[in-house]
Amino acid sequence: MIKSTNAAYAILSVILFCNVGCTINKPVIAVIGTGYVGLVTGTCLAHLGNNVICADIDQEKINALNNGVVLMYEPGLKELLDESVLKNQLQFTHDSANAAQQADIIFIAVDTPMQSDGTANMAYLESALQTIAPTLTKHKVLCIKSTVPIGTTDYVQQLLMSWGVEKHAFSLVMNPEFLREGSAVQDFLHPDRIVIGSRSYQAAQQIKSLYEPLLTSNTPCTIVDPATAETIKYASNSFLAVKISFINEIANLCEQTGADICAVSHAMGLDKRIGPYFLKHGAGFGGSCFPKDCNALLHNAKKWGVSLPTLSACLLTNEEQRKKPVKKLLDFMPNLHNKSVTVLGLAFKAGTNDVRNSCAITTIDLLLQQGAHIKAYDPVANTNMKQLFPRIDYCNCLEDAIDQTDAIIIMTDWPEFKQLENISKKSSAHDLIIIDACNIIDCSKLETKKIIVGKMGKKYEAMDNRRMCN
Ligand code: UDX
Repeated sequence: MIKSTNAAYAILSVILFCNVGCTINKPVIAVIGTGYVGLVTGTCLAHLGNNVICADIDQEKINALNNGVVLMYEPGLKELLDESVLKNQLQFTHDSANAAQQADIIFIAVDTPMQSDGTANMAYLESALQTIAPTLTKHKVLCIKSTVPIGTTDYVQQLLMSWGVEKHAFSLVMNPEFLREGSAVQDFLHPDRIVIGSRSYQAAQQIKSLYEPLLTSNTPCTIVDPATAETIKYASNSFLAVKISFINEIANLCEQTGADICAVSHAMGLDKRIGPYFLKHGAGFGGSCFPKDCNALLHNAKKWGVSLPTLSACLLTNEEQRKKPVKKLLDFMPNLHNKSVTVLGLAFKAGTNDVRNSCAITTIDLLLQQGAHIKAYDPVANTNMKQLFPRIDYCNCLEDAIDQTDAIIIMTDWPEFKQLENISKKSSAHDLIIIDACNIIDCSKLETKKIIVGKMGKKYEAMDNRRMCN
């Protein structure tokens, strides 16, 4: 009896030690950059039990985070952030150097925005590296999360050593993210795959161990060299963009032939080799990533003497597609001068307040060129669009936005815009034109003959004295 009790105690103490020991030995993680990638990465790594310090040069952003205010619109992020801060597993600081000094693993998640020539701006990355370099006195893993041109990780290796950082003081990893704005927390915690690029087996394993709780038989981890990881990121995003431009081209064909683009897209997606995602036609793609990444890959390839004509065509198609909503409106209303036109949806997609490269920017630009008077409404993106177009009228609700207007262009598929199907009950509807650029309106539900609906990818037909989509 005594022997078995001792054995039980021995086993229990080993288990306890492992747990306590592992918790104590958890690496300290610094995340440099608290944009949607950095903040979601830091918060989710803390949620997975790590000790995380998120740092940013933007004092205002850090002050807000230290007051529990999340400036970006990311469903689920605030809850996870509050929970991790409460457990003292997540901190925010303006002092990136101090964060890096304390860390065993440093994620760099700073922006690499597109420059006017289409190449990636590396200034923020280099600035972050300059801040981190002096802290590399004992070995740390430096993990690049930012989307960077092919060859950057190896370049960073040379750069740090040229600054006098000892080779043994760091190991580089490239760990691209595949987070969509508006679903970034979901995408982080339920990834399709983890990609890790490194020349150091140990460093790769250290980063892989952070994702261990997320790895299942359906979520593989691919460990490759850094350039391969960099290419996977650009190639994945660019392919998604190509897929969108392709379905938009087919939609433009259906507009002439009368074929049903929705049925075409659906049936194409039933082919497992094609898949149903990113086959939704509309006014083109926007956002902070697709335009940037496609242009960066194009210029990256050019530097290596390789042309990517498919990608060039994808961007050209997208540029034309973004003009179509206003072109469609002009079909019905050739003279927009002094006409009141309402733009519904300003964010580059529903579920976010981000207006970067939003297709609504092209729409507003073109309407202003036509001399239209613009009313604009978005459930969450008004404030951000006001930075770009301060002089148009911003409405605080759908009702006001559609009241006393000559035409409506729906640019973002926010669910609340489906209310337009009942618009006749809501306003003294004179002949009202709706250009539904994101195909959210079910025309069969429209009751009044006084509404004309133009849709992307739909052929117009004269029907009982009104022209509307079929
Ligand atoms: C994208 C990638 O999806 C993500 O993996 C990467 O990490 C960052 O870039 P994001 O830009 O946030 O994410 O949004 P996404 O949902 O991909 O949409 C991008 C654009 O494509 C939006 O303008 C959206 O409206 C458009 N889109 C998307 C379509 O026009 N059709 C579709 O079927 C899907």
